[in-house]
Amino acid sequence: MASISLTTSLFCLIFTAIFPCFTFAGDPYVFYDFRISYITASPLGIPQQVIAVNEKFPGPFINATTNNNVAVNVWNHLDEDLLLTWPGIQMRRNSWQDGLLGNNCPIPPKWNWTYQFQVKDQIGSFFYFPSLNFQRASGGFGPFILNNREVIPIPFPQPDGDIIMLIGDWYTQNHKALRATLDAGKDLGIPDGVLINGKGPYQYNSTLVRSGIEYESVPVDPGKTYRFRVHHVGISTSLNFRIQNHNLLLVETEGHYTVQQNFTDFDIHVGQSYSFLVTMDQNASSDYYIVASARFVNGSTWERVTGVAILHYSNSKGPATGPLPDPPNDTYDKDRSMNQARSVRQNVTASGARPNPQGSFHYGQITVTQTYLLESAPLVTINGSPRATLNGISFVNPDTPIRLADQNNVKGAYKLDFPDRPFNRRPHTDRSVLNATYKGFIEVVFQNNDTTMQSFHVNGYSFFVAGMGYGDWSEDKRGSYNKWDAISRCTTQVYPGSWTAILISLDNVGTWNIRAENLDRWYLGQETYMKIINPEENGETEMAPPSNVLYCGALRSLQTQNRHSSGGPTFTGTWRFGNILLMALLGFILIFY
Ligand SMILES: *[C@@H]1O[C@H](CO)[C@@H](O)[C@H](O)[C@H]1NC(C)=O
Ligand SMILES: *[C@@H]1O[C@H](CO)[C@@H](O)[C@H](O)[C@H]1NC(C)=O
Ligand SMILES: *[C@@H]1O[C@H](CO)[C@@H](O)[C@H](O)[C@H]1NC(C)=O
Ligand SMILES: *[C@@H]1O[C@H](CO)[C@@H](O)[C@H](O)[C@H]1NC(C)=O
Ligand SMILES: *[C@@H]1O[C@H](CO)[C@@H](O)[C@H](O)[C@H]1NC(C)=O
Ligand SMILES: *[C@@H]1O[C@H](CO)[C@@H](O)[C@H](O)[C@H]1NC(C)=O
Ligand SMILES: *[C@@H]1O[C@H](CO)[C@@H](O)[C@H](O)[C@H]1NC(C)=O
Ligand SMILES: *[C@@H]1O[C@H](CO)[C@@H](O)[C@H](O)[C@H]1NC(C)=O
Ligand SMILES: *[C@@H]1O[C@H](CO)[C@@H](O)[C@H](O)[C@H]1NC(C)=O
Ligand SMILES: *[C@@H]1O[C@H](CO)[C@@H](O)[C@H](O)[C@H]1NC(C)=O
Repeated sequence: MASISLTTSLFCLIFTAIFPCFTFAGDPYVFYDFRISYITASPLGIPQQVIAVNEKFPGPFINATTNNNVAVNVWNHLDEDLLLTWPGIQMRRNSWQDGLLGNNCPIPPKWNWTYQFQVKDQIGSFFYFPSLNFQRASGGFGPFILNNREVIPIPFPQPDGDIIMLIGDWYTQNHKALRATLDAGKDLGIPDGVLINGKGPYQYNSTLVRSGIEYESVPVDPGKTYRFRVHHVGISTSLNFRIQNHNLLLVETEGHYTVQQNFTDFDIHVGQSYSFLVTMDQNASSDYYIVASARFVNGSTWERVTGVAILHYSNSKGPATGPLPDPPNDTYDKDRSMNQARSVRQNVTASGARPNPQGSFHYGQITVTQTYLLESAPLVTINGSPRATLNGISFVNPDTPIRLADQNNVKGAYKLDFPDRPFNRRPHTDRSVLNATYKGFIEVVFQNNDTTMQSFHVNGYSFFVAGMGYGDWSEDKRGSYNKWDAISRCTTQVYPGSWTAILISLDNVGTWNIRAENLDRWYLGQETYMKIINPEENGETEMAPPSNVLYCGALRSLQTQNRHSSGGPTFTGTWRFGNILLMALLGFILIFY
């Protein structure tokens, strides 16, 4: 995958000819061309349709540094609409690039669309994925790594290498078949397996794993320390991650450095990302298993839902054999898992993206301006269809994206009436959005009244996970909040029959999604948006729509034909042409300098 880094001015000079220039501060650009298409792969030994990025499954990684401008030209070669989303990337003042239906019109098949955004004041490990139509269940995801600037030290010695692990539960049916199952009111059933980097399990047991499956093997050198960036890109099953005989030293999660702690195994929920340092301190008498197994399920019926990769020392004396390292044996008791989650805290003295310490924002001393209690419930039937709800509302995406509707005076595209409490309302579908106050400091309590483990994600922000506990949340639970070094992140788990409270400082204008990250619940409507607008907006707190903004819904007539790819040029052809043009222009510019 080619990627070019240039200063903005040079970039603008060169690229104005190719596509309209977007002016951000003078920070370098990274440019990617992503062609999204179907390919056939057999991750679990059975050929199936998966979604690839530039023919790769999983997709290539985006490698950027704090404050870079990122441009990703996305070519939709699927047979349905597409949007890529970048959870955790805060898109400051710029929800136009968010890649969700509440903010963007979809990219139709055979069209291309260029995302342009700055990764302002951020570091950390994230991933991107297609946000529509359950497509993530077929792939289309890839890692998004944000490096620190060289002037800012990381709070641990530079690792000897980076190892990316995309883990997730997986079905051999594609996203369309899975969607049809959900639409018919049926459960997806037990997943067919767990993939690690798009590959099936190593055959650790010939009864449980068929032969001929390609597995992931990670080459390492003895004595070295690697940074494992582990991302849960799956559908709805929580996973326990562990490496046989090796400690996982937790150092970072979703853009913030943690207090460093060793774990033998770690629970990772749908949509979450973690970095662990792992030192190759074993004697390599054999290879070692890397395991991601289904959590909080009946071990005997879910035995096949286990991902197994291989850690291969360069001096290894043979293959891994014998049983996998034990999973935690507390399937029916969430205490250990919840305590592990509570122990993930922020290292307040470490610098993150900026030179000042991460703990310099004293969130625990700020007065909460509004509390939202968002309750999820088991599935309900609304007008004959299965739906998932938050506070009794099952969200329906507006036909015209929210801010686009505002700016073009489209009335009635959505309602600004999402309730701040469940109020026992009769479940119904609606386009209700939260009216949140710019510069407010809010408390959002996720109350999981469902029987399954859930994760919730908030776009546009990093939030403080102040507390979690069993039963119903009440105001007196605030006494148990961590007001000092709570971790700041973008995706948190909410245990069944439990609550999780987060605190958010509303300094980023736009419309930002709050959703269940579990794909089945999200697909069935468990989401809403927060609309945050500066009442004194003067063009400085929110960016204007980009010049390539897509129109749809009530504004469909404003959309001109997307000339660039309606003919369907191939990725390679376009890229080569782009390269030639670029080189020509670069030469031209150099001559005139
Ligand atoms: C990512 O980018 C950084 C900075 O440009 C570079 O040092 C690093 O080698 C890149 N990583 C990979 C794996 O390409
Ligand atoms: C589609 O790709 C072409 C070629 O790179 C580019 O010039 C154009 O701006 C892209 N279209 C959009 C809407 O981003
Ligand atoms: C393989 O798994 C099956 C099913 O759990 C188990 O009965 C058997 O003992 C395992 N075989 C080995 C060699 O561990
Ligand atoms: C983690 O475990 C390693 C041994 O694998 C040890 O050297 C290190 O001191 C431990 N770190 C912490 C923070 O406990
Ligand atoms: C290597 O480590 C394993 C597990 O700790 C141990 O059983 C074995 O005896 C060791 N082998 C050698 C050659 O030190
Ligand atoms: C787990 O599933 C097996 C097989 O269906 C069943 O026999 C067993 O009772 C279940 N265990 C629990 C604790 O539900
Ligand atoms: C399993 O549970 C028992 C009793 O709670 C405990 O003593 C044991 O250490 C646990 N084993 C593992 C592998 O967690
Ligand atoms: C916190 O970060 C500092 C760097 O500022 C580092 O020296 C220290 O070891 C870290 N502490 C823990 C407990 O991770
Ligand atoms: C939204 O909240 C603002 C105050 O933050 C208020 O002025 C406005 O009337 C509210 N809008 C609606 C539709 O409730
Ligand atoms: C859901 O809420 C009801 C009523 O408050 C309560 O009786 C029930 O135990 C809750 N269920 C879960 C799983 O939290």
